[in-house]
Amino acid sequence: MKNLRSQEWFGRQDKMGFIYRSWLKNQGWPHDLFEGRPVIGICNTWSELTPCNGHFRELAEFVKRGVWEAGGFPLEFPVMSLGETLLRPTAMLFRNLASMDVEESIRGNPIDGVVLLMGCDKTTPSLLMGAASCDLPTIGLSGGPMLSGKFHGHDLGSGTGVWQMSEQVSSGKMQLAEFFEAESCMHRSKGHCMTMGTASTMANMVEALGMSLPGNAAIPAADARRNTLAHLTGRRAVEMVREDLFMSRILTRVAFENAIRANAAIGGSTNAVIHLIALAGRIGVPLALDDFEHFGANLPCLVNLQPSGQFLMEDFFYAGGLPAVLRELGEAGALHRDALTVNGKSIWDNVSNAPCWNREVIHGFAEPFKADAGIAVLRGNLAPDGAVIKRSAASPHLLQHRGRAVVFDSIENFHSRINDESLDIDEKSVMVLQNCGPCGFPGMAEVGNMPLPPKLLRRGVNDLVRISDARMSGTAYGTVVLHVSPEAAIGGPLALVRSGDMVTLDVPAHRLHLEVDDNTLAARRAQWTPPPKPTRGWEKLYVDHVQQAHLGADMDFLVGHSGARVARDSH
Ligand code: FES
Repeated sequence: MKNLRSQEWFGRQDKMGFIYRSWLKNQGWPHDLFEGRPVIGICNTWSELTPCNGHFRELAEFVKRGVWEAGGFPLEFPVMSLGETLLRPTAMLFRNLASMDVEESIRGNPIDGVVLLMGCDKTTPSLLMGAASCDLPTIGLSGGPMLSGKFHGHDLGSGTGVWQMSEQVSSGKMQLAEFFEAESCMHRSKGHCMTMGTASTMANMVEALGMSLPGNAAIPAADARRNTLAHLTGRRAVEMVREDLFMSRILTRVAFENAIRANAAIGGSTNAVIHLIALAGRIGVPLALDDFEHFGANLPCLVNLQPSGQFLMEDFFYAGGLPAVLRELGEAGALHRDALTVNGKSIWDNVSNAPCWNREVIHGFAEPFKADAGIAVLRGNLAPDGAVIKRSAASPHLLQHRGRAVVFDSIENFHSRINDESLDIDEKSVMVLQNCGPCGFPGMAEVGNMPLPPKLLRRGVNDLVRISDARMSGTAYGTVVLHVSPEAAIGGPLALVRSGDMVTLDVPAHRLHLEVDDNTLAARRAQWTPPPKPTRGWEKLYVDHVQQAHLGADMDFLVGHSGARVARDSH
């Protein structure tokens, strides 16, 4: 172990040493705690406005137990917490802002190692990104998924159940009273969404990257073993400081390749593409959209969880969780077995004997839940820099499709027209949504899975090809092409599509094509005017500096890392 960073504050014998220690002693800390114990910062995203992280104060207490036991000194601190359900206009607008809070809170304080408490969707990437830009010994702890929702004798999955039931209400198959009754049945315990949505996906990514102890992704928040894991995580954080096990030793290129493969095998969220690219950018690992195609697209989906399948995270935990999936990948030669993890062992050391207790939930590689189901990257004149589609959540009969575009030039325009019975749309149409990318709808809203028109739902049509520069909730499903880059609001070809144009989607050929000749497109481009931009505050800074989706939608000035050293010090 090198000299403890915290001793630059607490080890001083001068006026400043007095100030650093004395004010902290107002919390009752004895003097010897400042004499060389590793200080473990517990970076907490607790907030009553982030329901998925509402139990994090309690969880932090278990982390502290482990830190004390290992001879460390735990100091908990809050950072900006992003609640997916309440925060407007979209939590993603603030992912980069929260990551700045994390980065500067870690760098500016006397911290030797960090435990990241993460849960709701954006709290995981924002904490990982901010911590990566400092690169201290860092370990992740997810809050764990909620218990399975139960309604009228059936499982009810977060998000996924909402989309399904709202379609039933739209088509007259469900009464509003039942819809409201389902609210308290869906979310009945602490924890984050228990489908394989973005929160669960990112918890799996944390584990697949090697950034958490084994088993982190799936233990339910309400299970006592989540608290045990918190205790062990705190203990391990102290050891990591003593071993100089910095984040950059874990987050290597092979770790990201493992995460991409794991995301394919779990049927994970398309949001993972953006978050992993942004995280790689912070730690300095080259990672591109094509890596998802290369490493993930042809892998099978092994996990039968909603929204791609049937079960929920609680079932995933009982079946063996991510270690069972990683073992399958490892035995199939689709895992870098020697990738280092936070417990100091390789990922293969951690999972090579992992059992699977339920093959209905976690399939074997030889008999996958869905073959060739990874996220596919599409290109063509409609998406020169790429777009993505989650094949495991798409309708097989629409993966090769040619149809007439029905264009909505904003999400407001979509809402104002979609319920109109006279809307010119049928089951072969391709719904196109513009101006919902990183700049167009600052933050790149999760609106890409546009609800279908009620008149088609009543006829039993339950999927259409949908194309946009937006994102989609990890809990959503359908044949939905997302993250079209460059986006419409900066003049990408998506802005030039008009209702009635023919569009070809060919997922096996990775092609997204607008059947309009170049002269016509040039004429439309000459007529195109960009939408107005925000003029002040964070939104302005965001739009002025956010990168496109295929680059991870990070701010251009945040890419990379500065390390933990404070450049200038007024003390
Ligand atoms: Fe927080 Fe889904 S709303 S994880």
